[in-house]
Amino acid sequence: VHGAAELVVGPATGTTDGGHPGAHEPPTEPDAVLERLEDGAVAVTDGHVVAVGPTDEVVREYPPESANRAVDAAGRAVLPGFVDSHTHAVFAGDRSDEFAAKLRGKSYQEILAEGGGILRTVQATRKASADDLLERLLGHLDEALAGGATTVEVKSGYGLETDTERRLLEVIRRADDRHPVTVVPTFMGAHAVPDGESTDTYVDRVIEEQLPAVADLAAFCDVFCEKDVFSVDQSRRVLEAGREHGLVPKVHAEEFARLGGSRLAADLEAVSADHLLQATADDAAALAEAGVTPTLLPGTPFALGTEYADPRQFLAAGGEVALATDFNPNCYAPQLPFAATLACVEMGLSPAEAIRASTYAGGLALGADRPSIAAVPAGIGTLRDGAPGDLLVLEAPSHAHVPYRFGTSVVDSAFIGGELAFT
Ligand code: NIG
Ligand code: FE
Repeated sequence: VHGAAELVVGPATGTTDGGHPGAHEPPTEPDAVLERLEDGAVAVTDGHVVAVGPTDEVVREYPPESANRAVDAAGRAVLPGFVDSHTHAVFAGDRSDEFAAKLRGKSYQEILAEGGGILRTVQATRKASADDLLERLLGHLDEALAGGATTVEVKSGYGLETDTERRLLEVIRRADDRHPVTVVPTFMGAHAVPDGESTDTYVDRVIEEQLPAVADLAAFCDVFCEKDVFSVDQSRRVLEAGREHGLVPKVHAEEFARLGGSRLAADLEAVSADHLLQATADDAAALAEAGVTPTLLPGTPFALGTEYADPRQFLAAGGEVALATDFNPNCYAPQLPFAATLACVEMGLSPAEAIRASTYAGGLALGADRPSIAAVPAGIGTLRDGAPGDLLVLEAPSHAHVPYRFGTSVVDSAFIGGELAFT
């Protein structure tokens, strides 16, 4: 790919370990946030970036005439593929009626307490065949890719019993085989408590029955650490057991109540703590110190009509923030750029910060900086030498068009591992 009007290589150099440039206010200068080239080119061989730089330098070594495929990106921006590090994209059923109920003033917790919400999706998902679940998941991945996501994490968690949890993770694996998007599997048996069961008994089942049966199919273990769902102690038990099975912790933390999920995530050196609407500056400091990536999911407060998380406190603590969709039946928005628009309009990120959060930081939320996590290649979310050849050619001249134009996709084409995956 050569001649790009703007080529985003990754986070601005020098800003990845000394804290974020926009700790206190959005930087007006995108170059403080992103390493960008004008008239840039990137060469991909055997699935990985082998050269990135000014077009004249890159084409001297890798002439477009001798490439399998050459793309002239004149007038267009080229970005690393987006990394959506948090979705619940494998489910059956239809909860559109809850959308209307929420508009009439019902809260998410009220719906859940009446047997709606997650538990309704669980009923429908238990009844669905693996093939039906796979077809739906593949459709969701098509939409995610059309929006520019080249890596998508998918959680189980609508089974809440061993057979269905395993079926969901098998479907996630088959989707990864069938679909060009890189699909990263997370086990989330501790997503809700099944009807009529005590939480402690259910936690025992997750640990003793589900984890041993599914651990070979997942990279991460996640838990909904929330008031009236799983307590900090219960969450810790699940995540520690997951770790013994080789699964790296992730935590749904401080979404509706500030329970202490961030401290737990820091203690266990989780890769990410997600939602964080109620997190404080102390929580932010604990996460930054432990290398846990705060992951903000603005689609969810948008769908629920609540307040948004405050990204600035995490940046001020010296860490990154990642953005993800949280795509699920309660937040039916599979495309990451919509989250980027919300992050700019509602949470005060600059467009460059939103892109950094959707690429490089999304990779961190999946442990891209931890060599022991084999499911996630190093360098993901950047176009630096050796990174996967996952890149987007926009039908627009700069990264700013991603959050600026909403309700549409500005992705012209997407390459994954150097192969054309979407156009
Ligand atoms: O992250 N918080 C728990 N899980 C999802 C919602 C899932 C659902 O409502 O089906 C979330 O928002
Ligand atoms: Fe979630």
